[in-house]
Amino acid sequence: MKLIIAANWKMHKTAAEAASFCNQLILQEKKFTGVEVLVCPPFTALAATAAALEGSAVKLGAQNMSWEEKGAYTGEIAPRMLKEFGVSHVILGHSERRHIFGEDDTVIRKKLERALQEGLTPILCIGETEAERSAGKTESVLERQLRAALEGLAPESAGGLVVAYEPVWAIGTGQAASPDDAAAAAALARAVVGKLCGPEAGSTLRVQYGGSVNADNIGSFVSLDPVNGALVGGAGLEPDSFAALLAAAAETAER
Ligand code: PGA
Repeated sequence: MKLIIAANWKMHKTAAEAASFCNQLILQEKKFTGVEVLVCPPFTALAATAAALEGSAVKLGAQNMSWEEKGAYTGEIAPRMLKEFGVSHVILGHSERRHIFGEDDTVIRKKLERALQEGLTPILCIGETEAERSAGKTESVLERQLRAALEGLAPESAGGLVVAYEPVWAIGTGQAASPDDAAAAAALARAVVGKLCGPEAGSTLRVQYGGSVNADNIGSFVSLDPVNGALVGGAGLEPDSFAALLAAAAETAER
């Protein structure tokens, strides 16, 4: 299965900084052919990022979107506005959206349905907190999050879906999950998606691992079958570190 690796820039980079990153990244594109690569800038940098990526295979993702099509929703961004810039993927339910901005399973479900309806590929983030992990609840939390987002969807609409397993305690901490734990969570996600949306959706699903991924540890995750890529924060902010991470993933995938 083709690896999919996304850089989530969060609230970093002006439009000019985003363009400069892309110009430098695409100079190194030969190092990571064979990997599907995405950058997910802040909304204000989408246009500049799209322009800088023209002619490159690197794709454009968004970090969030509204579940509404349009209307009186001050401060929100509609899917159609993202598509105008060539956005193909959208991160939904990132831990920071859930825990800092209070997005719950119901909101994430509405966004996911809207993204699918609009032809955007959701990167659905799931993951347990440290407390849930210590209480032995990891599997039940992941299953609850998947069920809330996906139960009852038409099986054909779930094809191509990406799930990112991101344990909350591993995000931005330098303390990544063990590759075995990431693989177990990815296998669980695949099984649950298969159960909820049918075997076809389960088998075409790609599962990313996210949480303190870098050039040194990416190989240990993507060498395990159930893991098909990564969602990268900190290590995706500098073109050289992101290119090194992508090159390491490409090398592992070739073996
Ligand atoms: P990190 O962030 O790579 O900096 O841990 C990952 C994420 O938030 O997706």
